[in-house]
Amino acid sequence: MTSFADLGLPHEIVRVLNKQGIEEPFPIQEAAIPDALAGRDVLGRGPTGSGKTFTFGLPMLARLAGAPSKPGRPRGLVLAPTRELAAQIRERLEDPAAALGLRVLDVVGGVNINHHIRALAAPVDLLVATPGRAEDLISQGKLSLDDVRVTAIDEADQMADMGFLPQVRKLLDRTPPDGQRLLFSATLDGDVEKLIARYMHDPVTHSTAPVEAAVDTMEHYQLLVGDRDTRNEIVLQIGARNGKTIMFMRTKHGVDRQVKKLRRVGVNAMGLHGDKGQGARTRAIEGFSDGTTPVLVATDIAARGIDINDVSLVVHVDPPAEHKAYLHRAGRTARAGTSGTVVTLVMDEQRKEVDQLLKKAGVDAPTVRVTPMSEELVNITGARKPEGAPLPPPGQQPAKSSSARASGGQQPRSRRRRGGGGKQRH
Ligand SMILES: Nc1ncnc2c1ncn2[C@@H]1O[C@H](COP(=O)(O)OP(=O)(O)OP(=O)(O)O)[C@@H](O)[C@H]1O
Ligand SMILES: [Mg+2]
Repeated sequence: MTSFADLGLPHEIVRVLNKQGIEEPFPIQEAAIPDALAGRDVLGRGPTGSGKTFTFGLPMLARLAGAPSKPGRPRGLVLAPTRELAAQIRERLEDPAAALGLRVLDVVGGVNINHHIRALAAPVDLLVATPGRAEDLISQGKLSLDDVRVTAIDEADQMADMGFLPQVRKLLDRTPPDGQRLLFSATLDGDVEKLIARYMHDPVTHSTAPVEAAVDTMEHYQLLVGDRDTRNEIVLQIGARNGKTIMFMRTKHGVDRQVKKLRRVGVNAMGLHGDKGQGARTRAIEGFSDGTTPVLVATDIAARGIDINDVSLVVHVDPPAEHKAYLHRAGRTARAGTSGTVVTLVMDEQRKEVDQLLKKAGVDAPTVRVTPMSEELVNITGARKPEGAPLPPPGQQPAKSSSARASGGQQPRSRRRRGGGGKQRH
């Protein structure tokens, strides 16, 4: 058995991993960590939940150890597409970093920038950032990338797509040209070429999965639900199941509506999308992680990278826009060798679209006709009849009486938000 120490990681890090019960490297870690430690540029593709965060993060820490950083001048930089993912990466790397005497900081949008300015006034060794906030801090003169020796780009194919590429390029252009670069994703496709050609030197590619990054502990189903009304009823029954469930919707508005419908039948669901305030976003992730909120309804903002224990079912309530999104959404379950189920709810008029999407994703998903509380539905998803009392909107106290509920307090918040934030991507 290969150990993390055999891969060349410092014993301080190995000790922290072992304390977390992590003893044996996963395949992508075994393949890529030695090259990253040796200073090579690495392109890494491993399935969802296969341990890519440690694969790029731990060698970065090892390479930064033993030398000082200056205030506002990190020597390591990780770029990630969403606030939640950046925060998660920081959290996962914090203990191994501390064991080496290194400081990790995340800077993301939605947080008062003065907070980051203060945090950068002390030396930071590894900075994890969403591109927009990094750029803001640079233009205010509070952050410099001149000392960056190693840059990692997580979800690199998304970071190379049209929405992010200009910002990512700007940031990479500010790092020293001879620095080390690590690009990782479960789906490293053509878009990444734009970054490779310009920013990588003789990169080594480590790929531990076929292009269609299937996870073999994951079961996929297409549930044929017929019309919209039937689908909506089925969603509520799936929401009432035991266990953690993530439901994906195409739009922010769809998320808000779905959360309301679920709560109305007593299912404790919370929503996550880009128009929500940071407080609500954090509460949604925390409540879902600690199990107090069993259902998370989200846009694709939660499709990539988010690592939450014990998600047993992913539901594509709306089919994803493209096959890569299918794989990333699905990958919120069956992580790190655990098993999980992924269902796509398919209305009659969506059959062709979903068929093509799954073919492109390389996913073999049997089609099963289901009706409300049918045996097939219950067997595959654990659906139950929702029987709880209606719940107030997240963050509000339960209504004292039914008249209080009828008179509302329900909508103003989401109504106010709707229509705003046109620049957000999710
Ligand atoms: N060698 C290991 N042994 C056991 N668990 C591990 C190991 N490496 C990582 N893990 C755990 O596996 C989970 C998934 O890891 P991670 O989030 O890095 O996956 P990923 O490959 O980045 O997935 P995604 O493509 O969805 O972003 C994490 O909870 C992590 O702590
Ligand atoms: Mg990841």
